[in-house]
Amino acid sequence: MKTAIVVSGGDAPGINAAIDAYARLARESGGQVVGAQDGFAGLLAGRLSELDGALLSRLSGKSGSILRSSRAPVLSAPDAGERLRAVMRANDVENLLLFGGDGSLKHALPLLERWGAPCVAMPTTIDNDITGTDYTLGHDSACNFALAAVEGIRATADALPGRIFLLETLGGHTGYLALAIAHASGADVALLPEYAFDLDWLAERVRRVVERAGYALVVLCEFVPGIDSLRDELPRRSGIRVRYTALGHAQRGADTSHYDRTVARDMSGLAWQALKDGLSLGAVVMRHGKLTLREGLMPPQDKPAPDYARYARINGL
Ligand code: F6P
Repeated sequence: MKTAIVVSGGDAPGINAAIDAYARLARESGGQVVGAQDGFAGLLAGRLSELDGALLSRLSGKSGSILRSSRAPVLSAPDAGERLRAVMRANDVENLLLFGGDGSLKHALPLLERWGAPCVAMPTTIDNDITGTDYTLGHDSACNFALAAVEGIRATADALPGRIFLLETLGGHTGYLALAIAHASGADVALLPEYAFDLDWLAERVRRVVERAGYALVVLCEFVPGIDSLRDELPRRSGIRVRYTALGHAQRGADTSHYDRTVARDMSGLAWQALKDGLSLGAVVMRHGKLTLREGLMPPQDKPAPDYARYARINGL
């Protein structure tokens, strides 16, 4: 069996561990694996290369992706299906192992199904925003990165009271990542794109927290509506100094956690078995703490908004 590995959309910690695990399984059973550079754009252009096992092992704990990704919408081209089939035929590729986030899986899987290209998808994004799986590879590492930043903020916050700390996380237009971090770090406020908030309410809440505890910690998602005015408005309305930390893309390149390395290798084990058994289309998903192989497409709808009860508890609502 020969598999082509494709990484599409945002990279996430754990991808390299998963690629390494898949390549080892292939090697041990006489199978073959090639990697596409630059996501589907590279695959359609036939840019496939052998994977160096020793290099893979060495880089398996690193974040990012040894195979470059791409967000180019090449699958929408009218001849994309024909080109894909031609590349697979010319390179004796029987199936695909696809790493991707919500957009990539929603867009690519129905097309691959239509074109008859066997594929197992690995839901991969720090955002944890994919319907049909409770967990996406990389999320834990991105949370740990933020928790380390919180420790640093708390150290200085304790030492010099009288400030409000805003910690901005990635997460795109969904608040799962910010909520997970706010909950685990014991933040005083969580601001998410899915739930509107009032600036006067926020100012009053953090003012009271600072009065009681010396400082307040607000965790917010990068795309919270009104985020640009927060830095000016919050000090004005609360009368307290505001200090802002944006984790930015350093969070996406966070060190790969033990959990993500484990999940990555287990996901690859399931994907390898499924493709060997001749599955035509599916994804490795987490349901109730257990990884399983889901056959067919992922559900088309968006994931429901993050847990309101947890959000309300953090915010004292
Ligand atoms: O992959 C998800 C994500 O990291 C989001 O959290 C973030 O908003 C986005 O990707 C950033 O994308 P890009 O790397 O294209 O700027």
